[in-house]
Amino acid sequence: MTIGTVALDRTAALAPMAGVADRAFRELCRSFGAAYTVGEMVSAKGLRQGSKKSAQLLEIGPGERPCGVQLFGNVPGDLAAAAELALGAHPDILDLNMGCPAPKIASGGGGAALMRQPDTARAIILAVKAVSPVPVTVKFRKGWDEEHLNYLDFARMAQEAGADAVTLHGRTRAQMYAPAADWDSIRRVKEILDIPVIGNGDVTTPEEAKALYEQTGCDLIMVGRGALGRPWLFAQIRDFLTTGAYAPDPPLEERMEIMRRQVELAMAYKGADAALREARKHCAWYMTGLRGAARLRREAGTISSLEDVDRLAQLAIQLDRE
Ligand SMILES: Cc1cc2nc3c(=O)[nH]c(=O)nc-3n(C[C@H](O)[C@H](O)[C@H](O)COP(=O)(O)O)c2cc1C
Repeated sequence: MTIGTVALDRTAALAPMAGVADRAFRELCRSFGAAYTVGEMVSAKGLRQGSKKSAQLLEIGPGERPCGVQLFGNVPGDLAAAAELALGAHPDILDLNMGCPAPKIASGGGGAALMRQPDTARAIILAVKAVSPVPVTVKFRKGWDEEHLNYLDFARMAQEAGADAVTLHGRTRAQMYAPAADWDSIRRVKEILDIPVIGNGDVTTPEEAKALYEQTGCDLIMVGRGALGRPWLFAQIRDFLTTGAYAPDPPLEERMEIMRRQVELAMAYKGADAALREARKHCAWYMTGLRGAARLRREAGTISSLEDVDRLAQLAIQLDRE
C-alpha cells in the first residue's frame, strides 16, 4: 500500500505511544518487520518554543525508516511552524494527533478535543499540508463520547482537507483504552474514503491482525500495546499474513537478549538515567506470562543498571527451569 508517495508493506505498523515507542523500541520493532513506525507525540507549541525535549523526540535513526513524526496541538499556526521544524528530522510522514484522550492534552484543546472542533481540525490539516512535502496523515477516534460519534464526518473532512491517509482507533475519547475497540467503525470509514485507512485497536496476535484486515478491508493495521515486551510480534504477523503460518515466540534466552538489546539501545539514544528509569516498565512487559511473573515484575521495578537487567533475565530463566 502507499501513503502519498511512501510505499509500505501491508503487514503491521507500530502505533505511536508516548513514553513507550521511543527510538530504541521503534528500531527493534522495525528490525522484526514492522511495516512502519510512528514516533511519540510531540508538542507543536513545545517545538516552536525551542523545547529540547520536544526536539529530541523527533530523532529518527537510520534503522527505523519508514518512520512518521506525530505532532499535537490546537493552533493551526503552531502546527504549521512545528511541521517545518519537524521536517528537519526528515520524517517519511507527518502524522497529526487528533485522538489523544489524556486530560493533559485534550483539556488544552489538542488530541481528541479536536473532534469537537472540526473546523479547527480542518484548518490544522490545511496549514500542515501547505508546508509539508511529505504525506500528512491524521489519527483520530470514533468521537468524544457515545453521544457524539462524528468519525464518519471527521474522516470525510480529513480527506477533503488533503490528508493522505487516516488512522482510526475504534474507541471514543470517553472510552480511553477499554472496552473492546469497535472494528466496524473502521470498516465504515474504509467504505467512504478514497485515501488509505489504517485500522487500530486491540490487535495482539497474528490471528487478530488478519481478522482486522478481513473484517474492515483496511489498508494497513497498527499495533500498540500488543507489541510491548514482544517486538517479535511483527515478524509473526508478517509471516502469518504472507504464508499462513508463524513461528512461536523466541525461546526465553533469546527474548531476554532482545530485552537487553532494547535497554542498551535506549541508553545509547537517551542516556543511562532516562533509559534505565523507563527500562523498569519495558522489562516488566517482557516478564508478562512467565513463571513467577509477579515476582519478576517487582524485580523489574527496581532496575537501576544494566547489571540489574542481566540479573532479572537470569532470574527469569532460572524460575522457568524450576
Ligand atoms: C502508553 C500509550 C501511549 C500512547 N501515546 C500515543 C501517542 O503519543 N499518540 C497517539 O496517537 N496515540 C497514542 N496512544 C494510542 C495508541 O497509538 C493506540 O491508538 C491505542 O493504544 C490502541 O491500539 P492498541 O489496542 O493496539 O494498543 C498511546 C497508547 C498507549 C497505551
